Amino acid sequence: MARNKRALITGCTSGIGQEVARSLAAKNFDLILIGRDEARLRVLQSQVLALSTNPIKVDYFVCDFENLEQVSKISKLIGKAYRDLDVLVNNVGIWDSKHRKDSHGWEMTWVVNYFAAFILTYNLFPLMKQTARDTKNMRIINVASDAHKFGQINFPLAQTFHVYKTYGSTKLANILNASYLAGLVREDGIFVNSLHPGVVATGLWRKLPKLLVNIAKRFMKSPDKGAETAIFLASTPNMRLSGQYLEDMKIAKLTDLAKNTDLQKQLFGETKKLLKEYLIG
Ligand SMILES: NC(=O)c1ccc[n+]([C@@H]2O[C@H](COP(=O)([O-])OP(=O)(O)OC[C@H]3O[C@@H](n4cnc5c(N)ncnc54)[C@H](OP(=O)(O)O)[C@@H]3O)[C@@H](O)[C@H]2O)c1
Repeated sequence: MARNKRALITGCTSGIGQEVARSLAAKNFDLILIGRDEARLRVLQSQVLALSTNPIKVDYFVCDFENLEQVSKISKLIGKAYRDLDVLVNNVGIWDSKHRKDSHGWEMTWVVNYFAAFILTYNLFPLMKQTARDTKNMRIINVASDAHKFGQINFPLAQTFHVYKTYGSTKLANILNASYLAGLVREDGIFVNSLHPGVVATGLWRKLPKLLVNIAKRFMKSPDKGAETAIFLASTPNMRLSGQYLEDMKIAKLTDLAKNTDLQKQLFGETKKLLKEYLIG
């Protein structure tokens, strides 16, 4: 009998990630759920188990993405514990209103939105390549944002903070990284895309100035609508898109900066150097 497909979803205890988890469970995917709150992960685990029509396996791991040591440990553990991973949804995201730093002095939006996803993806490559050897159809999905339009990439990374530009810059980095990886692993049968979910009524907005939130509210989708493009990329049979940026399940426009292949390569190289202590050898 064919095995279930397996998806790993980060940031699944609320918002878009939770809807992705629910939908993939209903499509009988085995799930690996990553979140920072064990009680909420346990509730989600029992909710999604009840949604499947065939038996599925749902595991969870507790990990705080503000702590890159934890991200590194969990990614190495998962890389060893499983034999297959068909879908990786890098969905965790924050939009901070204040300059917070981690133990390295790196700005926290960069740590959570980009560095943690980079480490997780990089350390899971052996597992994902092993899966793609059999299936020729492994998928990585970076939940990015149209906010990349006001982002910039300045080296060294993660040194400054601006309430709008920093979030946009981390989302630009998610897109640049997806496009670069798409080229790197195309021959392995791994498809890498990024997406804009729309403006969605989730917890993302909780720390932002009321003025911005009130403007955004006029355009907000429900979380289940916001999850549609990620679900489309994760579960459409024989999907062959790679290196693309999608919105509403269609290819969407990127800025010239987001399409800059030199910048994609430079960002990958600089990030790998910066995060060396957390990456597998
Ligand atoms: N909402 C929008 O309009 C919008 C637009 C464009 C892009 N996006 C992107 O969509 C993605 C999902 O966000 P959302 O809108 O669904 O917001 P959300 O409801 O706040 O979900 C974010 C998820 O990330 C988790 N998370 C945050 N910090 C974490 C940490 N330190 N460690 C572990 N998990 C952490 C949250 O966990 P907790 O539940 O524990 O906080 C939550 O599950 C993000 O990447 C965001 O940038 C959203």
